[in-house]
Formats: sequence, structure tokens, C-alpha cells
Amino acid sequence: MKIAAPKYTRDFYPDQMRTREWVESAWHEASRAAGFQPWDGPILETLDLYKRKSGDEIVEQLFNIASKGSQDLAVRPEMTPSLARMIVNKQSSLPRPIKWYTIGRMCRYERGQRGRLREFWQWNVDVLGIEGPVADAEVISVALDGLNRLGLTQDDIAVHINSRSMLSAMLSAAGIVEDRHPAVYAVADKRAKLPPAEIDNLFAKIGLSSDQLAKVKELFSLQSRTDLRLLADFWGNEKGLAEVALLDELFALLSSLGKEAYCRFDIGIVRGLAYYTSPVFEIFDIKGELRAICGGGRYDRLMETMGGQPMPACGFGMGDVVLGELLTERKIAPPGGPTIDDYVIATSPQLLADALHVVGRLRQLGRRVDFSPKGGNRDKLLKRAVETGAQRAILVGGPEWDSSRAVVVRDLSTRAEATISIDALVSGSAS
Ligand code: HAM
Repeated sequence: MKIAAPKYTRDFYPDQMRTREWVESAWHEASRAAGFQPWDGPILETLDLYKRKSGDEIVEQLFNIASKGSQDLAVRPEMTPSLARMIVNKQSSLPRPIKWYTIGRMCRYERGQRGRLREFWQWNVDVLGIEGPVADAEVISVALDGLNRLGLTQDDIAVHINSRSMLSAMLSAAGIVEDRHPAVYAVADKRAKLPPAEIDNLFAKIGLSSDQLAKVKELFSLQSRTDLRLLADFWGNEKGLAEVALLDELFALLSSLGKEAYCRFDIGIVRGLAYYTSPVFEIFDIKGELRAICGGGRYDRLMETMGGQPMPACGFGMGDVVLGELLTERKIAPPGGPTIDDYVIATSPQLLADALHVVGRLRQLGRRVDFSPKGGNRDKLLKRAVETGAQRAILVGGPEWDSSRAVVVRDLSTRAEATISIDALVSGSAS
């Protein structure tokens, strides 16, 4: 019986791998173009790391491993707790600002659905040590650059931006004590997924009074920063107004970075993870048909809660699954092109060792070289050479080989052939 891959995971055959590598190289390039340095951590972390730092939603989604030794472990579902742990362990010696990125495999025990799998790849970009919206603007801009490099533009994607500290100021002005704010965010985060009546029920369950509920509803119905400013003013909420000004600053910085056309204010973005403090954002397909491609925000208190010194921080995670769906929908695929330069053919099985000698010499030159593993019929093997997409076929055998150990170099697009000695071939005169 054939064995399938585990539920909600993917096999990457070479075709799929080509897409994954192409996506990852766009992510690498966008990170490096903005001065970010790569980092990585272990695929396993202690269960405790997530129990303490990520919030209930992530803990429910952990693939945990019952302890074989002294520690309960979990497969990493996200990178931010690992990042915080590693930063805190070397906090005093790391030059600031810290601009790090990583691309890696994550696992979450989720009910598989469109855009959500149990294993996915995620690109993380984080800036630590910079207060104020300039770092938020930088990470958002890098996320958009990564998507631009894959051919997605403002006609395909938009970044939806909000602020938890602004929400917190407004909730306080609505008479809701700070302890209850996380519960309000958790319900607000479900607004897109559940019908309004159910959302009201959930709000009522956290114990909001009818006046508070009315205010929460009014807040979450706002459409623009202007509406928000007016409401903060109407409620006489100085802190709220200051938070709106910070959001305005973030939007202005994103305009300076040339990203204005992508940016939308969206009061509905609260983010599910517990550690976010102020600006939060998600990138969506413009038609709003898919789940978030990317999510992130500022998490200024995480280093302290991990036992480190206070350190401002912000960043994002972008997964490959929803992004892959959008690329397919837009019919955007990795550029084709040959994966090898030369295909070496032994025209008889006895000449295989000689052919391998040519292969070795060409590879030493840095050329990408494949060969016919069996040797044999010239025309059949030339057909195979064409299928590989190689630029040239190098034929070992025939009278040229017997008389002067010369090979025939065939240009596979023009079909022009030249006879040339191996030394001349590897000295580059025939390429
Ligand atoms: P997150 O919103 O949990 O944030 O995940 C970010 C992105 O990872 C999502 O928008 C989605 O593209 C992808 N993703 C998450 N779960 C799955 C899944 N089960 N299947 C497929 N794709 C998935 C975080 O992970 C934060 N740690 C991001 C961050 C970094 N915040 C600051 N720095």
C-alpha cells in the first residue's frame, strides 16, 4: 500500500521545490537589500517558551513532544519567541539596531483549511532597538518589497494597519479596564470569521456593560483615521489622539518609502498573538478572498517578559501557503530557464569513463553539467540533451575522439557543431 504524506502537509517534488526556492530567494533578496542579517534557531524549543510568551491560541496549536528527557519540547510554530530568547541571551553584546531576518519551517496543529496547513514556511523580518514608527515603516516596506520581487503589485496586495495602543486608549476611554483589553482583542480578532450576533455574545461574555458594548461597536465600525480622530476628540481622549498622531506618522513614513498606494487603515486588525503592543498590520490580497499573507507588529515588552532589558521591537511573519495561492491565482510562476549548461554524452558505453573525465573538468570550471549515465545511441541521447534545456551537448566518441581525443561541441539552439580538444574546451575557447 502506498503511503501518503501526513494530513495538511505537502510533498515538494522538484516542480514545487522550484517555486519554493524562487519565493525564498525573493525573500532573501528583499531582506538583504534593506540591510537585514540572517539568523536561525532550533526547530524544537521548550514547551515553556510558548506557554509563557505566545498566548493561548498558539499553545493550542503546538505540536508538543512528550519529554524523553528532562524537558517538554514543541516544534516551533513561529519564530518570535525564539528570536526574543536569543536576543535576551546576548542582549548587552549585540550592536544596535538589530535588523535580523530568517526563513524556516514551522508547524502548527491546525484544522487544515484553505491557506492553513500543519507545516509551512515563514519569512520573519524584525527590527529591535528602535522606538517609534520608523522601524515599523521599515519592516512593512521590506515585506512589500519581497512581494514586489515576486511580481505582486498594488493591484494585487494591500497592507492593513491598526494600532493596539490606540485601541487600548480608546477602550479605556470607553470605561473598559486594561485587564479586559486582551479579551476584547481576542473577540475583535474573530470579527471577520463569525456572524455579528455571535460576536456580540462573545463581547457580552467578557462582561461588557451595554454602554461599553455600544462604544466598542462604534469603535470597531470606524472606516478611516479621520473618523477615529473625530471619535477620540468627541470622547475627550487625549491619549487616543496622541496614538492617532503616531499612526499618521507611520503612514507618512510609508509614503516617504514609496508605499502609500499599498497602505490602508483598518480598525479590524488586532492580531491573535498576545505580545503585540502598538502598531499591528496584515497584508491581504486586494480582493479580500484569501487569509492574511503576512502579519506583524510591534512587541515592545517581550524582551522584558523574557527576562531581558526593555527593548523596543517590531517585525512580521509571512507564510508561503496563502502567498502560493495568490501567485497561482495571478498566474505568476518562477521564471523558467535551464538548470544545466552542458550535457555530456558518451557515444558508446565503453567511453563512459572518458565522458566523466570531461564532466569533471567542466564542473571544475564552474559550469553546471549533467551526463548520460549509460552511453549509447547519439541521436537518442541528443534528444535527451535537448530535453534537459542545456545550452550545449558535448559528444565524447567517434573518429574525432579516436584520432585526437577531441570532442564534438553542439550548440543545442543553433545545432552548430565544432570539434575541439578537451584542453581548448576547458580553457573556455569553445564556450
Ligand atoms: P502569524 O500571524 O501567526 O504571526 O503568522 C504570520 C503568517 O504566517 C500568516 O499571515 C500566514 O501567512 C502564515 N501562517 C501562520 N500559520 C499558518 C499555517 N498554519 N499555515 C500556513 N501559513 C500560516 C506570527 O507568526 C508572528 N510571529 C509574526 C511576527 C514576527 N511578529 C513579529 N515578528
